[in-house]
Order: sequence, then structure tokens, then C-alpha cells
Amino acid sequence: MESKASVTDNYNLHFNPKAYLERYYSSVEGYVEEEEGVLPWTLEILHSIFSHEGVSGDRLIDIGTGPCIYSFVSSCTKFKEIVVGEYSEQNRNALKRWVDNEPGSFDWSSIIEHVCQLEGHSEFKERESLLRKTIKDIIPCDVRLANPLIGHASPQKFDCMSSAYCLEVACRSKPEYVKCLKNMAGLLKTGGLFVQLCEPLSFYRLGDWVFEGILLDEAFLKSALEEAGFTQIICRSRKRTSTAGENTYYDFTFVISAMKE
Ligand SMILES: C[S@@+](CC[C@H](N)C(=O)[O-])C[C@H]1O[C@@H](n2cnc3c(N)ncnc32)[C@H](O)[C@@H]1O
Repeated sequence: MESKASVTDNYNLHFNPKAYLERYYSSVEGYVEEEEGVLPWTLEILHSIFSHEGVSGDRLIDIGTGPCIYSFVSSCTKFKEIVVGEYSEQNRNALKRWVDNEPGSFDWSSIIEHVCQLEGHSEFKERESLLRKTIKDIIPCDVRLANPLIGHASPQKFDCMSSAYCLEVACRSKPEYVKCLKNMAGLLKTGGLFVQLCEPLSFYRLGDWVFEGILLDEAFLKSALEEAGFTQIICRSRKRTSTAGENTYYDFTFVISAMKE
């Protein structure tokens, strides 16, 4: 029976990391039926931000990481430490299993290989082990809290923050989105870079569950960032090309970079 998930808690109760990873990240092409071209497009931009634009520092925090490491394949060469903040326990466990190289953990090699090719080399085994070493901590996190990193009352601020497809499913309204963004901004140093992947959607289906999100446009995403204290906002957008699928509804994918004032 299909049930409707309407609260963040459903990421603890009903989110299946294995099903999610197999659908969206089994190959560089991603989830072709519903999101043709999105994954390679985002990997190319992440590569460009972290390899070409001179972004670097000591510590990067990623928020709402899910069971995923694809966004770190580029950034792990530029930061000494990556800290993960993720709400769902099963996602944190899936990530830990990958970091510990446990048998049966998800195989990210095609995506790692692809990013290495974008960089013009084939040292993907070295990149995989660098990535495993660079992920230093995996922390429970809730963006609705003033301090999102649970159990870390006043964490040292980070040089860079990234987040992919999190706020648009964690928040139920525009005011809540702005509030959560402000909570996240509190983790970043002044002058620090925020890299956000965002796909405002009304819902997506995974297994027997429907996970809700909110549909937001580019103007709102930019104004929310300004209200949360960000400047130098660059927003790249990609219009959805596939219309066939029934497992989600969204219009655009965005990759945004912005600097904390
Ligand atoms: C659609 S998944 C995105 C996962 C991954 N970042 C990716 O790029 O595929 C949304 C993620 O946001 C997390 N999430 C949901 N509500 C959250 C909250 N209140 N605080 C932090 N993370 C949350 C979920 O547990 C899930 O891992």
C-alpha cells in the first residue's frame, strides 16, 4: 500500500538508501527516465567550481548528504576535512559502511572515474581512498534546529558548505525554508562559499512512499539566500527535459554558489 510521507521524520522511518542509490546513482547517466542529464550536468559544475575556481580551505561541511559521496569527488582534493551532517540514521550508516569499505557498500566507482576523467587523469583508485580518508565525521543533523549539528553545541565554523537536494524536501513553506537556510548559514565562516544543488519538486516516489517537497522558483531561491546573509550569488539552472515519468514532478534543477557576507 502506498503511503504519503509529509514530514522530515519519514527520512528516518521510510527512506531506503539502497533503493535511492540504485535509482539515482548506479551510473553517471543517473536516473534517465525522470532526470535525463542532471547528474552529469551537476558533476561538471562541481568539477568546475572546485577544480577551476580556486576554492580551497581546511574544513567543508555537507548538509543532508543522504547516503551519497558524489559531490565530494571534486571537493575532497581542496579541503583537508569533510564533515557530513545527515538527518537519517540509515543514511549515516550507509555512508559509514562506504567510508569503512565494508563488503556490500554502494559502488561509486563509475562516478568517481567520471570525475577523474573530467580532471584529465585516471587515478580513480587513489581518489577513492583520498575521499574515504577526507570524510572525518558523520553527524546527526536537523536543519530545522538553530544549531543543526546535533550534539555539537558550538562547532568551529567551516570554510565551505555544500548541500544537495535537502532544503526543498526538509521544509514545508517558504518562511521555513529561509529559517532553515539561516540555521545552516550559522555553520559557515564569513567569506565562506556555499554550494547548493537544488531541485524544487512537489514530490518524488521511492518504493512505496511519496516524499513531498516544495516547488520554488529561481527568484525565491536567490532572495532566500540574500535574506540568510549570502552575496555573490551565481545560479545555474537546467530545465527538465524528460516528461515521461510519474515518479516525480519538478521543473528545474539549480546549482547555486554564494558567499557568506
Ligand atoms: C533527496 S535526499 C538528498 C540526498 C543527497 N544529498 C543527494 O544529493 O542525493 C534529501 C536528504 O535530506 C535529508 N533531510 C531531510 N530532512 C532533513 C533535515 N530536517 N535536516 C537535515 N537533513 C534532512 C534526508 O535525510 C535526505 O538524506
